[in-house]
Amino acid sequence: MTLSLDILQGKLARCFRFYQSVDSTNDLAKDWLLDGAPAGAAVIADEQRRGRGRQGRLWHSPPGVALALSVLLRPAEEEAALVNMIGALAVYDLAKQAGCDEAGIKWPNDVQVNGKKVSGVLTENVWESGRLLGVVLGIGVNVRVDFAGTDLHASAISLEDATQAPLDRAELVRHLLRRIDCWRDKSAEEIFMAWRRRLNMLGKRVTVNGVQGLAQDVAPSGALRIKTDKAEALLVHAGDVFEAPNTWSVE
Ligand code: BTN
Repeated sequence: MTLSLDILQGKLARCFRFYQSVDSTNDLAKDWLLDGAPAGAAVIADEQRRGRGRQGRLWHSPPGVALALSVLLRPAEEEAALVNMIGALAVYDLAKQAGCDEAGIKWPNDVQVNGKKVSGVLTENVWESGRLLGVVLGIGVNVRVDFAGTDLHASAISLEDATQAPLDRAELVRHLLRRIDCWRDKSAEEIFMAWRRRLNMLGKRVTVNGVQGLAQDVAPSGALRIKTDKAEALLVHAGDVFEAPNTWSVE
């Protein structure tokens, strides 16, 4: 159940660095990437003190209860957008393997279990002299984070809440990294189609970045295609999407 260098060394056949407590695994991964880390290398921490989330938010990874890791990838520039999808697909597989029956991906890359967020993905591109050096795929998973009595209670969940069984975090890390490797081996088309199939907002009326409309589809770049209530076509590249009441305004 604990996460330590010894335990992970016995489980992971890859290049990785483990830290008991860090500010952000993404930051350490970026430094390592610039220092020549091989593709597939991982930075894993038991605790993050200043974990970073999407849209400049903080991400909470208290000791002993979550997964916080960053994987270094070196995709071709035109395939960098797939890394987000790979992260979400790997966590989706992890949730299913852990025994969560109801799972889905909330655009762009949150994995939800029973309609609540169980993980977050933050990818960051690292550039050097105008070329893409690599992408840091940062993943945080709530394993047994206690959200009771917090603001997040209604929207966040831990894997163990859903499975009602104790989970071994080292085993979860092992499985997650294997699923990332497995998706990295697939074609861009396979990754995109699998990600698209698991998105749980397509065909629904949503609010995104203050605009309401129908979530029609996604583009191969990962952008969300919205038909707004004013019948305008909108391509959303980043933001938070929420299900909106299914009442159409008449103008
Ligand atoms: C989100 O806002 O949903 C994305 C959260 C991503 C958190 C992970 S935890 C490991 C890695 N290190 C960070 O600082 N952030 C990511």
